[in-house]
Amino acid sequence: MNFHVLTLFPEMIEQGMNTSIIGRAIAGGYLTVQAVNIRDFAFNKHQKVDDYPYGGGAGMLMQAEPVYLAYESVEKKIGKKPRVIYLTPQGRVFHQEMAREFAREEDLVFLCGHYEGIDERVLEEIVTDYVSIGDYVLTGGELPAMVMMDSISRMVPGVLSNQESGETESFSGGLLEYPQYSRPEEWHGRKVPPVLLSGHHANIDAWRREQSLMRTAKYRPDLLKTADITNKEWNLIRQWRKEWKAETNKE
Ligand code: ADE
Repeated sequence: MNFHVLTLFPEMIEQGMNTSIIGRAIAGGYLTVQAVNIRDFAFNKHQKVDDYPYGGGAGMLMQAEPVYLAYESVEKKIGKKPRVIYLTPQGRVFHQEMAREFAREEDLVFLCGHYEGIDERVLEEIVTDYVSIGDYVLTGGELPAMVMMDSISRMVPGVLSNQESGETESFSGGLLEYPQYSRPEEWHGRKVPPVLLSGHHANIDAWRREQSLMRTAKYRPDLLKTADITNKEWNLIRQWRKEWKAETNKE
């Protein structure tokens, strides 16, 4: 997977993407991350890339031409028209399935806006996907691009070791992850659930499944609709709900 990031702050991308699992994947040749500085494509001697919006209004807009030239430099380099993701609160909200789908591409371009946005005409010409990372407004597209690259990278074969593999994590199977514990057996008076010390793998799996169901039912009930849940498990969830309701009525 080759990520190309069109940005006014290349150092933010370079520094944000060179540690931990992503840094290791880059060193191992599974990923490349190239930050393309839009300012290098400014067509005036002051390297100015923004201007006032026609019709008035607050703030400055990024101009079309430097963004287009930065994009074109990537297109020329890779010899094809890649998918171009524009990070914007107006886009579709990012989720795990989108990460899985984007991970199938060979090249992805992220376009990071700043100021009050980017001249609409260049967006119409180059952007294939408008994506938001949530219903809040950030100062620029770099953090959302890094969030997306992180989650897409995890889906690229070879990036995670077998042990780190995403299989049992939150959102695979559509449920939240079960709680985990490491040594010591008791910490601040809190004990590790005894079943985890039993060595009985079927019981451990059953306990973990139940914890995942319980957490999802409690904190993200919206996810239950699309998760794989048996009739027996639905009965369990209904039972818990009755108990939780009785508890809140008591308080
Ligand atoms: N740019 C500013 N806010 C954003 C958000 N929530 N998602 C994606 N891009 C953004």
